[in-house]
Amino acid sequence: MQIIRFADLCAQGQARGKRVFIRADLNVPFDDHGHISEDTRIRASVPAIQMALDAGAAVMVTSHLGRPTEGAFKPEDSLAPVAKRLAELLGRQVPLVAHWVGGVSVAPGQVVMLENCRVNLGEKKNSESLAKQMAALCDIYVNDAFGTAHRAEGTTHGIAQFAAIACAGPLLSAEIDAITQALAAPKRPLAAIVAGSKVSTKLTILQALSRNVDQLIVGGGIANTFMLAAGLNIGKSLAEPDLIGEAKAVIEAMKARGAEVPIPTDVVCAKTFSSDAVATVKKATEVADDDLILDIGPDTAARLATQLKAAGTIVWNGPMGVFEFDAFENGTKVVAHAIADSSAFSIAGGGDTLAAIAKYGIESKIGYISTGGGAFLEVLEGKTLPAFEILMKRAA
Ligand code: 3PG
Repeated sequence: MQIIRFADLCAQGQARGKRVFIRADLNVPFDDHGHISEDTRIRASVPAIQMALDAGAAVMVTSHLGRPTEGAFKPEDSLAPVAKRLAELLGRQVPLVAHWVGGVSVAPGQVVMLENCRVNLGEKKNSESLAKQMAALCDIYVNDAFGTAHRAEGTTHGIAQFAAIACAGPLLSAEIDAITQALAAPKRPLAAIVAGSKVSTKLTILQALSRNVDQLIVGGGIANTFMLAAGLNIGKSLAEPDLIGEAKAVIEAMKARGAEVPIPTDVVCAKTFSSDAVATVKKATEVADDDLILDIGPDTAARLATQLKAAGTIVWNGPMGVFEFDAFENGTKVVAHAIADSSAFSIAGGGDTLAAIAKYGIESKIGYISTGGGAFLEVLEGKTLPAFEILMKRAA
């Protein structure tokens, strides 16, 4: 992907003394007491900011937080806790600036945080006048917000049209590189794991991947719908019977290419959906009408593990079963460890997937862990994200 990289500009000394506007994705979760409960995105945004400071730039960084109402700022919309955490990570002060669209005072070697960009009128609708005002604040616009790259908003798209220079920060660059390595030029076999509760939310991803991958491994409620499509009884398990036709089409499309959707041959069932439910391993052909399938069975997990260990590239989105309940975590655990032990280049993304990676302590063994939720899924769908598209245009 042809884009201008901020790291190259810094290496060439082009950021020295310049006003640099960084759009990061600092949209982190908070607990009931208003404390940041998970700060991965803040930590992942530090390299771009540090790079700009080291290069001698005057640095502005902004992000959205939640989905506030434009023009109606509320205290809970504030990036103040994020600025505080960023200051700890950078080991320097990060003053928070409100009402910044009309002008920002920041000197080379300093960093300020610009308050929640989504409270500015016109941000969501990508207003041209807002974009022009924001572009006038800087000499270099840096998009480092992969998590928001699927949104065409003022700070992710509009400003990139009008800033003197528009480039990708190190996080966005790394995400682009990892995705390209995994999907555009993969070492084969290419295996994709697409799991989650519903086929409907991931149908376009399954369809896009069925044209490219060698193994399309389905899990969770999605696997149940595929089992139905394969003519198996799934009892009262979560599934979408009205999408059996689409699931069959995906299976056929894969077969036509000599690729496969491995259908579970055994499953772990329960009679109720609860953490203390009795787990029973059954052949996929022996599921009773009152059974709930809550995980793939050990034979299926072992077979998938063998395939994953032999893969050249693995794309992972979604757990295989209800891994939050110990009795139904085996499928996800086995698959997670197989990915970790595989020599394949692996890329993983999505909230549940990241939770599974953390649960099994395999962070360091995954090739690339994406910071994107919706953005990661849209890339898997084969879409060109608006933030990428405008940066490519500006590099042309
Ligand atoms: C996310 O949390 O997925 C990103 O920050 C995007 O947030 P949004 O869905 O509110 O645009």
